[in-house]
Amino acid sequence: MDLLEAMRCAPTSRRFTTEPVPNEMLVRALDSARYAPSGGNRQGWRVIVVKDAGRRAALRDLYLPYWRAYLQHTGGALMLADPESFDPARVRMVQRADHYARGLAEVPVHLVVGVRLEDLAVTDSELGRQSIVGGASVYPFVQNLLLALRGEGLGAAMTTLLVPAEGDVRRLLEIPDEIALAAHIGVGYRAEAWPRRLARRPVAEFAFSERYGEPLT
Ligand SMILES: Cc1cc2nc3c(=O)[nH]c(=O)nc-3n(C[C@H](O)[C@H](O)[C@H](O)COP(=O)(O)O)c2cc1C
Repeated sequence: MDLLEAMRCAPTSRRFTTEPVPNEMLVRALDSARYAPSGGNRQGWRVIVVKDAGRRAALRDLYLPYWRAYLQHTGGALMLADPESFDPARVRMVQRADHYARGLAEVPVHLVVGVRLEDLAVTDSELGRQSIVGGASVYPFVQNLLLALRGEGLGAAMTTLLVPAEGDVRRLLEIPDEIALAAHIGVGYRAEAWPRRLARRPVAEFAFSERYGEPLT
């Protein structure tokens, strides 16, 4: 698959067939994803491939309370209760995300992505604001992985709602304390057609010339 096409058309897949995903496809995708950059080239990412039905159900049980809380504080619960009163595109997304959350145990493969805390290059911890730089040593890998999975013809959904359940996930998957949870990726054969284009803001809304706000022509 062409690189630019993959970048432009790797949607969040939330419905999957029950067809099993061979490990060879996952290993190939991981083998490409590992070329991602990381601070000092420390490559602190770790990935656990979970296919066991009992563990997938356990991960769903850990995910759902956080999903439900998210629905409550973002107003998503209101959208699900009274869909007619809201923007149909937003409602569709919340409905799909809710379907994904409730059906998480049936998603054929769960990739649990962690990172060795010691390997994170964090340059913004003294700024007195939310630190974001640590994630830059693992999320390029996650995005590479999403693109590589797309290249394999597999659908994927990256979420972060499992991260607050890190302690329980650690116990379930026997992850050592030095590894922090970074993302969960549900993977399988997509049950729907691939979209032709994704809804994204145009370049002019986020890229500027020389000074913030100055149009880039
Ligand atoms: C950090 C992060 C957290 C996300 N969390 C969720 C989530 O909890 N549930 C979900 O269904 N999708 C989640 N997503 C997927 C986004 O909803 C998705 O990327 C966005 O709606 C664009 O969808 P599209 O690529 O299909 O157009 C998350 C994505 C990111 C990058």
